[in-house]
Amino acid sequence: MNENQLRLLRTLFDIAPCGILIADSDARIVKANPAFMAMFGTTPAELAQVAAGTAPAGEGLAVLMRRCRDHIAAPETQRAALRVEVTRKDGSPFVGTVCTQAIDLGGRMWVAGFIQDITGQALMEKERELISAQGRQAQKMEAIGTLAGGIAHDFNNLLMGIQGNVSLIMLNKDPGHRDAVYLKNIERAVARGSELTRQVLGFARSGKYEVRPTDFNHLIERAAALFGRSRKEVTIRKILQEPLWTIEADADQMDQVMLNLLVNAWEAMPGGGEVVLETANVTVEENTPGRPPDAPPGRYICITVADTGVGMDAQTQARIFEPFFTTKKTGSATGLGLSSVFGVVQNHHGFITVRSGKGRGTTFRVYLPASAPPPVHRAAAPGAGNSRGPITLLLVEDEEMVAAIAEQMLARVGHRVFLARSGAEAVAIYQEQRDAIDLVILDMIMPGLSGADTFDRLKAIDPAVRVLLSSGYSLDGQAQEIMDRGCLGFIQKPFSIEQLSQKIRAILSAGERPPG
Ligand SMILES: Nc1ncnc2c1ncn2[C@@H]1O[C@H](COP(=O)(O)OP(=O)(O)OP(=O)(O)O)[C@@H](O)[C@H]1O
Ligand SMILES: [Mg+2]
Repeated sequence: MNENQLRLLRTLFDIAPCGILIADSDARIVKANPAFMAMFGTTPAELAQVAAGTAPAGEGLAVLMRRCRDHIAAPETQRAALRVEVTRKDGSPFVGTVCTQAIDLGGRMWVAGFIQDITGQALMEKERELISAQGRQAQKMEAIGTLAGGIAHDFNNLLMGIQGNVSLIMLNKDPGHRDAVYLKNIERAVARGSELTRQVLGFARSGKYEVRPTDFNHLIERAAALFGRSRKEVTIRKILQEPLWTIEADADQMDQVMLNLLVNAWEAMPGGGEVVLETANVTVEENTPGRPPDAPPGRYICITVADTGVGMDAQTQARIFEPFFTTKKTGSATGLGLSSVFGVVQNHHGFITVRSGKGRGTTFRVYLPASAPPPVHRAAAPGAGNSRGPITLLLVEDEEMVAAIAEQMLARVGHRVFLARSGAEAVAIYQEQRDAIDLVILDMIMPGLSGADTFDRLKAIDPAVRVLLSSGYSLDGQAQEIMDRGCLGFIQKPFSIEQLSQKIRAILSAGERPPG
């Protein structure tokens, strides 16, 4: 090879975009090109020191030297390309493929090798894997949501039937009757059953029906009062920021979140103790601890529930949001509480953090995004509903048992009821009786004309029609969509006579009929 050819080869060596190395029979890297230096973050001087044994080989060089040593020990063996994943000196990751070949030059072994930098490609692969894992998880959640929704619908209609019959029997008996206690037991079982479907819906990121601008401080006051009344051994201390930013939330679901957290705190303090409930306006930053990557930085409210209870070790903590994970021995603990809290909070685009240690109490923090517009206060008109005589209702319900029960329940508390067994029938009745009807109670899920379509037809007949939506389950967003179109309330089956009467009163006294 003449001088010119050598210069040509040297130029190729210098400008090659992949790393090139030459190692001697002692597996010392004696020559490497600039691309190699850049990949491993090393310099010719450092490389020489490593080769001379006066400096230690970093992680990357050590891997390469091992490979060269293998070649020299068995030069005949063909070796497949080697994937190396190492950390560079500056801490950044490096992924490369190494192709090496042993060569005998005049009785002395050498190893020549190429290294290709595939760090970018490897990172992209990892990201793709993560995205597809997230996709699978989302699909799984969607399937669970559909399943939970289907069960919730049928289950709640059944419970409605039981609850309704019990309500009617109780109205027929005086409170001192010897069967009253058994009837109360049935009611409790119904309540527990519907609580269970609510938890499952929460976990399945479903069941968000009535989203309204909400002042969370009100919710806390209510939850604390309700809770404090029955659990006197726990002291509740409230530190509430005023004014607290408004959030968009389903109040029923948020009640469920607070109750789950409070009950857990109470159960963690068998000897009594203190729960601190705190609210604060916070700005979540990129580096706020616990912020998941999909929660955008910005304005949030933060609700803290801190107890002085038994706390948790790290192992327990890692599993608390799993459905059906429980450490409690009581029969009523299902382990759905926190998984439901997690689902509801996620479904409201928030996130939750937990800090705990064995014997050191536990602190949960729930972050919920603040909404932009100020709260809308519906002007309450002077108690229209309370002063009026009997109310005339149009009940639209396709489930036979529910229809019969609800009709009787309403009649028993003195209301006049038109019953429609389908959307089409409801439209026909409303057309004839619109002046007599004060309120329509509309089931959302019906064959034929759906609740949503029925609502639109009623609205077309009378833009000021007052509608209370009812359902055992509704697809997320579906109830909200109808609410947004001017429906005045939502009631979840199963409901008792008192709950229904309360909703009816609330709607009829909530001001003038909406503008058409
Ligand atoms: N405040 C707390 N202090 C200590 N441990 C807690 C606390 N909150 C939750 N845990 C732990 O997390 C587990 C799961 O809680 P989760 O609310 O999901 O279910 P549960 O309370 O066991 O049952 P359920 O809520 O259905 O009655 C609990 O069993 C408990 O071990
Ligand atoms: Mg619980």
